[in-house]
Amino acid sequence: MRLDKFLCDMGLGTRTQVKQLIRKGLVTVDGVTALRPEQKVETEQKICVEGKEFSYVEKEYYMLNKPAGCISASSDKNCTTVLDLIKEKKRSDLFPVGRLDKDTEGLLLITNDGNLAHCLLSPRKHVDKTYFARVKGRITKEHVQAFAKGVDIGEAKPSLPAVLKIEKDGEESEVFVTIREGKYHQIKRMFAAVGCQVLFLKRLSMGSLKLDPRLNPGEYRPLTEEELRLLQEETKC
Ligand code: URA
Repeated sequence: MRLDKFLCDMGLGTRTQVKQLIRKGLVTVDGVTALRPEQKVETEQKICVEGKEFSYVEKEYYMLNKPAGCISASSDKNCTTVLDLIKEKKRSDLFPVGRLDKDTEGLLLITNDGNLAHCLLSPRKHVDKTYFARVKGRITKEHVQAFAKGVDIGEAKPSLPAVLKIEKDGEESEVFVTIREGKYHQIKRMFAAVGCQVLFLKRLSMGSLKLDPRLNPGEYRPLTEEELRLLQEETKC
């Protein structure tokens, strides 16, 4: 690949910025100063910028426990994004797989693997997503049945059947909900449809991928090989 592409992919700046680094003589390839952005490089070569080595990584996968208050976007002028939290990222093209609302916490996969993301989000694949929710109001068997049938959330069709499990009922109830689609504000809209308000929402799993309980809100770690293999297997990606 071209040297300027290598450097851009590794997050060293825009094409214009990395070209400047090269033209200033700050980039070496196997110890030799590179002066042409279009120079072809192999990923095994030793590429340094101002003496610091950058190794090429094709794909990155991180599990983030998204905290409330940050947004599921790649960049934003005014607000911390989920990508701002991934301090050790190497690639510049990472993105969150799907969105959680600003006030929602929990599992978010961050990657640059567009194919896997597409498969996980595709409505046709019906990947299960499980959430923990604290809800204002008493959740009853009738709600469980309504969710199992699908509720009217103001779309052409009702929501797909969802599994609602009551953990604690009272004036405020605690539940686990598993849905097989991912419409905008889906969980909040489903509860609103049965007259309840979501007070707290946290995603616990997406397909086989489970939020690591050791991650506090705002913390992340790379996926293990096994976690990635299972995701690829179940989505056939
Ligand atoms: N459903 C919601 O209402 N919000 C989320 O963030 C995720 C699912």
